[in-house]
Amino acid sequence: IMSSFLGFDFSTQQLKILATNNELEVLTEVHVQFDSELPHYKTHGGVHIQDDQLTVTAPTEMWVQALDLALEKLQKQGFDFSTVAALSGTGQQHGSVFWKNGAKSVLENLDGDKSLHDQLKDCFSIKDSPIWMDSSTSEECNKLEEVMGGGQALADITGSRAYERFTGNQIQKVFNNQREAYNNTERISLVSSFAASLLLGKFAAIDHSDGSGMNLLDIRKKSWSKECLEASAENLESKLGSPVPSATNLGPISPYYTKKYGFKPDCQVVAFTGDNPASLAGCRLQKGDIVVSLGTSDTLLVWLDEPRPALEGHIFINPVEDDAYMALLCFKNGSLTRERFRDEYSSGSWAKFSEQLQSSVAGINGKLGIYFDVMEITPAVQGQYRFDANDKMVASFSPAEEVRSLIEGQFLAKRYHAEKLGYRLGPESRVLATGGASSNKEILQVLSDVFQAPVYTLDTSNSACLGCAYRAKHGVKSSFSDIFPNPPNYKLAARPTDVQYDIERYGRVETSLLN
Ligand code: ADP
Ligand code: XUL
Repeated sequence: IMSSFLGFDFSTQQLKILATNNELEVLTEVHVQFDSELPHYKTHGGVHIQDDQLTVTAPTEMWVQALDLALEKLQKQGFDFSTVAALSGTGQQHGSVFWKNGAKSVLENLDGDKSLHDQLKDCFSIKDSPIWMDSSTSEECNKLEEVMGGGQALADITGSRAYERFTGNQIQKVFNNQREAYNNTERISLVSSFAASLLLGKFAAIDHSDGSGMNLLDIRKKSWSKECLEASAENLESKLGSPVPSATNLGPISPYYTKKYGFKPDCQVVAFTGDNPASLAGCRLQKGDIVVSLGTSDTLLVWLDEPRPALEGHIFINPVEDDAYMALLCFKNGSLTRERFRDEYSSGSWAKFSEQLQSSVAGINGKLGIYFDVMEITPAVQGQYRFDANDKMVASFSPAEEVRSLIEGQFLAKRYHAEKLGYRLGPESRVLATGGASSNKEILQVLSDVFQAPVYTLDTSNSACLGCAYRAKHGVKSSFSDIFPNPPNYKLAARPTDVQYDIERYGRVETSLLN
């Protein structure tokens, strides 16, 4: 009998579902775009930005409604849900869902004749979930670092210093400003464990890897840090539940889905995780490799055996090997900044944008651009900065130079910060590129030149979603590497040309912007 695996991806702008066969080859894929397909929530890019420009949220209900919509799309394609042996999924990291008192019993008694949305719409004590783009919790971060003895001390326990978007600090803000709602909260989920809860029909545990993005988990002991919990909010431990290894089989799917879509009752739900950990799984990362994901935000993933937390970047527990770790560097100014440049300098066309990259000279004779439309994470700088070959600030470049300086600057930043975390590029190093912009060959050529390493792409840009179909099989079968009948399907996209970039100089210039 044929069996299949599903991966769900609750990302910022859309919900995707991907199905694979038992060999983990993609069978089909559907997605629901929040802005256009659920317009009544009035989101832009899937989010609500408040007037202060710092507070960023997304309507929790919208995600619930999108799940039925996406499953209906699969149903209309004639997908046979009875073949699904297991499913897993992923969500944008750090976002939090506040389930209202009483939600547990609603979740455990879902009626397959009604919609998820009708049954769950009143189950949230906070209607709009804080998400990763939020940067409104500086005060809370300061307090946490102070209580814990500084940023490095906090990083030594949780893998990261205090970050505004990290869930513990978001929870602290709710605790401080919306005490009644906080007290009326039965459970707090991450977007990932919230999504797993919808499918499990029970509150699903937070997994170790996504749990590492909260400033609350002790990444060595793999349990909540009592000090961090106490510094964040009262009665927090009972609202979070116990964290579990990321490959944990949580149990069978809720009867809601067997009735409504024809899933078998023994279809297993494997713990959901964050989109970056899921992407590491989807890329079948090996030691020495670096993943560059070019999505809404740009991210760098590195496999680590030993955690070496620093004041920048993040260390998470590894999503496929609970004893290993991974490093993540996240850059907020990714695709949206590239799109702005495309619209301003390339007549709104990616083809023109690529042509400008091709026609301009690598290194732009020493010209350098650093563009942070919104406050960057690493480093905490905002603004547009152009330098000539003598590090003198200038007002503008030619359109083609604008485009090239953006892409070079974005990749110089990635290499500089990866090396600061201890990453060393060797002769065997490979760069694996994923995400929407990895379909652009000319962008990948710049990536290869800046890293002086070959760049490979995967045959899908949905590495997070695919990684969860892999993780679904991992959760019900054997070790991660044993689930694949075939070697990874990497495609060589670019080889480095003979060009030298001065990484040290980039670091010097970037550091000067901090003052
Ligand atoms: P998400 O992080 O929301 O999952 P994706 O990984 O799907 O995002 O990436 C979406 C982005 O891909 C779009 O915002 C767009 O800017 C970018 N993109 C799509 N095609 C191209 C292209 N040819 N060149 C550069 N960027 C592209
Ligand atoms: C990671 C981060 C983003 C989100 C959304 O720290 O904030 O990458 O996971 O993609």
